[in-house]
Amino acid sequence: MGEFVSVAKEQDLNEGKGLAVKVNKDLEMALFKIGDKIYAIEEHCAHQGGPLSEGTVQDFVVTCPWHQMTYDIRTGKAAPDAWDQEYSVKAFNVKVENGEIKVEV
Ligand code: FES
Repeated sequence: MGEFVSVAKEQDLNEGKGLAVKVNKDLEMALFKIGDKIYAIEEHCAHQGGPLSEGTVQDFVVTCPWHQMTYDIRTGKAAPDAWDQEYSVKAFNVKVENGEIKVEV
């Protein structure tokens, strides 16, 4: 079990729009709010590092803005229609406490 660290406030996050946060000097995550749940995956696309927080979100799928690789926001795995099923990014556990979004690292 890792440690949960605060990365943002719940009010900073809008449905359907990613938010990039820096967790430490080597780790950036993209946060997404879908329904009443918050998800965190690695910010940088496994293909060439595109910013996933800037991707478009549809249901639970984010599309990388650079070359349209698609990932399931819940797992970080390639979405069923992704052009490469081998690519994936890490997904992180998230909890919200008193309006603070915390991710497990
Ligand atoms: S960098 Fe994301 S699809 Fe190429």
